[in-house]
Amino acid sequence: MPDWLITGCSELLTLRGPVPRRGRGLSELGLIRDGAILVHGDRITAVGPRRRIERHKDARRAEKLDLGGRVVLPGFVDAHTHLVFPESRATEYELRNAGKSYEQIARAGGGIRSTVKHTRSASAKALKDRARANLREFARHGTTTLEAKSGYGLDWKSEVKILDVLDQLHQQQPLDIVRTFLGAHVVPHEYRKKPDAYVDLLVKKWIPTVATAGLAEFCDVYCDRGAFSLAQSRRILSAGRACGLVPRIHAEQLARTGAARLAIELQAASADHLEKIDPGDVRALGLSNVVCILLPGCCFHLGLHKFAPARELIADGAIVALATDFNPGTSPTLSMPMILSLACAQMRMTPAEAIAAATINPAYSLRLHDRVGSLEAGKNADMAAFDVASYREIPYYFGVNLCSLTMKRGAIVHSKKR
Ligand code: NIG
Ligand code: FE
Repeated sequence: MPDWLITGCSELLTLRGPVPRRGRGLSELGLIRDGAILVHGDRITAVGPRRRIERHKDARRAEKLDLGGRVVLPGFVDAHTHLVFPESRATEYELRNAGKSYEQIARAGGGIRSTVKHTRSASAKALKDRARANLREFARHGTTTLEAKSGYGLDWKSEVKILDVLDQLHQQQPLDIVRTFLGAHVVPHEYRKKPDAYVDLLVKKWIPTVATAGLAEFCDVYCDRGAFSLAQSRRILSAGRACGLVPRIHAEQLARTGAARLAIELQAASADHLEKIDPGDVRALGLSNVVCILLPGCCFHLGLHKFAPARELIADGAIVALATDFNPGTSPTLSMPMILSLACAQMRMTPAEAIAAATINPAYSLRLHDRVGSLEAGKNADMAAFDVASYREIPYYFGVNLCSLTMKRGAIVHSKKR
């Protein structure tokens, strides 16, 4: 792998500064005009104004990569995805748009349970091929690190099949994948009459085994009407925490259940969704270290109008992040630029806030902020270049992919000819 001297960064967004970002700090991009980056192997060795970096002792030996005037930022960190699934649910999409709700479809046996059925019968190879193709698309849209959950297996064999596919993909393709065990996505069909027996199985058997076998780093629960109750979620996440799986939680998406407060109580890494939180929850989250991962792709795709209260969360000092929630039911997009567009237009975030919420804050939520999420000496050479005149144009243009180059650990993993 060559060493690189990367120039032609008309705007270089370093995102250097305090971690995590809260309040006004969320807008600080550490912008350098006419910037340059020096890369050695998989790491950044120097970042700064081009004139200074070009004089660096290692610059002469490095291969020159002149981007010719692009906006360069850390690769996106997508901290909430359901990467592994066998097929789309486009027929449900059509049903919903004709008037059926997400919950009605789920109660009729569609929704998550339908993806579970197809995941169980899919081969590991088929799941992996599809996920690998999707990872290429993530890279083409500027994402370099992602979190991915199990949760479409819901029997031991199929959950392990998903976690194994994720591990193999992490080893075999360039993007970094952090694994989350979501055995508590919904109660599987065979336990519908005895949901607490399923919770027992999770708490007593599966979670300890996932932890000891090192199959995941995080444990997640979908705490909602139609999924797991607050008490069940507390049991599941506490069991995970006790054996070293850090909690994340799908919280307050369809109904307000108290899941956001539970995230604070359990010192979860993140509380995700948060469409239904109230002002008291906002204040409590603002005083906590729980990262509020907002997923505007869901409201957009489901045609709902009440997005999470991003402005209030930012005003109260919460750690706000953005993610795709890539999944076949509520958010079939892997485009972080599209999520930025939604965050700005629908949640009134500024482009600068959206960028920090898509890089350094999600890196913190995955406990990877020492390596990714900003462009600083010593960190991974993970970055994305956009063919735009200013960073504001990244969310401003929507429905097009303007990411022209993605670098992961010093390797070019996507490059678009001009
Ligand atoms: O984050 N809400 C729960 N889980 C996913 C949806 C999964 C699905 O519908 O397949 C979400 O929105
Ligand atoms: Fe999700």
